[in-house]
Amino acid sequence: MSQKNTKIEIISESAAQTEELASFIGKTLREGDVLALSGELGSGKTCFASGLARGLGVSDQYRITSPTFTLINEYPARCKLYHFDVYRLNSYSEFEDLGYEEYFCANGVVVIEWAEKIIQILPDDAFFISFEYIDENRRKIIIQGLKDRLKELARYKGGG
Ligand SMILES: Nc1ncnc2c1ncn2[C@@H]1O[C@H](COP(=O)(O)OP(=O)(O)O)[C@@H](O)[C@H]1O
Ligand SMILES: [Mg+2]
Repeated sequence: MSQKNTKIEIISESAAQTEELASFIGKTLREGDVLALSGELGSGKTCFASGLARGLGVSDQYRITSPTFTLINEYPARCKLYHFDVYRLNSYSEFEDLGYEEYFCANGVVVIEWAEKIIQILPDDAFFISFEYIDENRRKIIIQGLKDRLKELARYKGGG
């Protein structure tokens, strides 16, 4: 279980770099993967989701925006991308009541902004990615999760 604590910290120097990192991760994703994004408003969650979508193969025709009012956006790709933003939820039970938990076992990739709001019901094997605002153009991105794909990421980081 020690792998579960594997943690990678990356300082992103620009929105483009965050997208590029996310796109790299997007390429490694498979059906059933759940990515839990947390961090303040403006910390880069949607920027990351956008890069992830590109890496997964979502066409440039789709603009990736926070599904704040709709709660979920769905994009066709190599495998379906379900993009949640649960900012407006009052509690995780609302998420359950809406039947959204079933997306965790659906045949697609799930990315959730403000995932800290539903932390109680996230699958154990989710990737946890948190974003911290450093200054205008820099964000600290911390990636945690029990996946061998983190090794590839460590290599990516090493390669600059
Ligand atoms: N290194 C960076 N990574 C991500 N976004 C950045 C970075 N530097 C500046 N930004 C800007 O910060 C904003 C992040 O917004 P967004 O991704 O919508 O955040 P959130 O979804 O967390 O509220 C964007 O305007 C983006 O251009
Ligand atoms: Mg957002």
